[in-house]
Amino acid sequence: MPRLFDPITLRDLTLRNRVAMAPMCQYSAGPDGRATPWHLMHLGARAAGGVGLVITEATAVEARGRISPNDLGLWDDAQIEPLQRVTELVRAQGAALAVQLAHAGRKASTHRPWASARGAVGPEGGGWTDVVGPTDAPFSSALHAPRPLDEAGIGEVVRAFAEAARRADAATADAVEIHAAHGYLLHSFLSPLVNTRSDAYGGTFDGRTRLLHDVVRAVRDVWPAHKPLLVRVSATDWVPGGWSDDDTVRLAGELAGLGVDLVDCSSGGAVPDVRVPVEPGYQVRFAERVHREAGVASGAVGRIDAASHADAIVRDGRADVVLLGKALLRDPHWALHAAESLGVANAQRWPVAYGWAVG
Ligand SMILES: Cc1cc2nc3c(=O)[nH]c(=O)nc-3n(C[C@H](O)[C@H](O)[C@H](O)COP(=O)(O)O)c2cc1C
Repeated sequence: MPRLFDPITLRDLTLRNRVAMAPMCQYSAGPDGRATPWHLMHLGARAAGGVGLVITEATAVEARGRISPNDLGLWDDAQIEPLQRVTELVRAQGAALAVQLAHAGRKASTHRPWASARGAVGPEGGGWTDVVGPTDAPFSSALHAPRPLDEAGIGEVVRAFAEAARRADAATADAVEIHAAHGYLLHSFLSPLVNTRSDAYGGTFDGRTRLLHDVVRAVRDVWPAHKPLLVRVSATDWVPGGWSDDDTVRLAGELAGLGVDLVDCSSGGAVPDVRVPVEPGYQVRFAERVHREAGVASGAVGRIDAASHADAIVRDGRADVVLLGKALLRDPHWALHAAESLGVANAQRWPVAYGWAVG
């Protein structure tokens, strides 16, 4: 029996199935960081297309923590109402919405990918130069050099995550996902390749994970107890001596103890020029280790394009949820098509207004 369309309950939230839309930057917000009609269409279409959970793009907790000047943000109360409209649209289509709370750290203030220029953008292009990181080392010569965060600065970042979580709740989001992957601020503190600090926020495993622990505690404090909290990690840096999958299993266990309900297992991004063995399901083994060894639910992501593959991951107990990115960009109705191809079409209904098209 297929299992991909079994519901799953995290705290008081029941998702109608195990298919989640992975967070994907759209670089389509205005400089005010507010959601636009593009976000309504982009996220609403995948909800109408049958996924159980829609996760927003990286949503900046501070203006200087945006990847590009066109990212979504939740650093200002004026950003709540436009996001609430998206949340309500998604829920009306039977899906739940999670907001990915993010801080780009030393990878902030870059051109959006389709701009003619590459790399860092300065104030003349809507960017900024006040970029922060664990140390003053830039990600690459093409990006801004960061200012190392001191303990007061770290406290501000922690508060910004908590304030953004409060705004996500005000926008009636069903869940939040803390972005601790892909070389952005929280991952850059985790990775020994980047975090060479000698204070309480660097050095040992406990030091390097301290910032993420602080953020999770602060968010869990303000995030309603009945709503789930997710964390996305880069399960490995793919570099000897970097963050490893053993580190991830240990961290995931600790996060579970802090009230995290699901660990979403991506990889890479701490340092440039790393060879990643990308192939179908190449990150599933990380989700499997978290699921089996850390006592917390996990999400698998990365080149999971076929319905049979996604279903096998859940059926074989390798992950609790499967996240899809590019497959859902290609086909907003991926989940409905998957239900048909797995022979569980009854588990999932097309929007009634589309009934004529599907018999
Ligand atoms: C256009 C695009 C934007 C992305 N933006 C984000 C993001 O905002 N946050 C994040 O954690 N991952 C982001 N990712 C990574 C995806 O969430 C996902 O992990 C990755 O695409 C691999 O899954 P896939 O093979 O199903 O696309 C992005 C990927 C794409 C293609």
